[in-house]
Amino acid sequence: MTDRARAVRVVKGGPVLVEGPVDIELPDGTRVQSDRFMVAICACGRSRNYPLCDTSHRKRRRRSD
Ligand code: FES
Repeated sequence: MTDRARAVRVVKGGPVLVEGPVDIELPDGTRVQSDRFMVAICACGRSRNYPLCDTSHRKRRRRSD
């Protein structure tokens, strides 16, 4: 265990912010890496850059959607 706990912040209706760098393993075994200082991981499932957030969670859905 490290001397400092990793900070993770859950944004209501948005992503999970994790201190980077990160190495994310998807259910199919694919790995996605990011060296960013803070990484936004999509929790809404609408990102076109999944598993990374692309701010698609901000878009409103039309009633017909
Ligand atoms: S949480 Fe931002 S696109 Fe999904």
